[in-house]
Amino acid sequence: MRATMLASAALLLGAIVSSADQASKVRERDASWVAPADRNARANPLANRPDAVAGGRKLFHQRCSTCHGEDGRGTAYGPDLTTAEVQAQTDGSLFWKISSGDTRTGMPGFSFLPEPQRWQLVLHVRSHRGGTGSPQP
Ligand code: HEC
Repeated sequence: MRATMLASAALLLGAIVSSADQASKVRERDASWVAPADRNARANPLANRPDAVAGGRKLFHQRCSTCHGEDGRGTAYGPDLTTAEVQAQTDGSLFWKISSGDTRTGMPGFSFLPEPQRWQLVLHVRSHRGGTGSPQP
């Protein structure tokens, strides 16, 4: 009886340690997930509307930060969105990824949100690199 209790306590401790370890690791991005060329070229209609970024920030905290972190730097469930690899993508590419999602890896699709809200989210993701415009193609 005592031995069983000790063994289950050890198991429990092991589970706690390994889940803490997992939470500290930020999920890797999938470099093979690339937007179709015609979607890449879409420009953000809100690119000259820096005021729209506040709405994007709010939406991000409601819908995205559980996986991507409050600051967009990623968690065990979603990759860091502040990296050069993500920021190098066009607004059109980010919009497409946010809209369609990737069910294979657990990124939900947000096509149910009105388009302007999805572009606001793109603006917010951009704000993590300090700017709000599209990178030059
Ligand atoms: C349930 C967890 C989860 C939620 C919620 C979530 N994401 Fe993701 N997201 C992921 C995962 C996992 C990936 C990696 C997919 C891949 O690379 O194939 C990802 C990838 C992305 C990418 C592509 C990054 C790259 O490397 O190209 C963007 C952009 C993104 N998410 C934005 C968002 C936004 C904006 C929201 C909220 C509207 C959101 N995500 C909500 C899990 C999530």
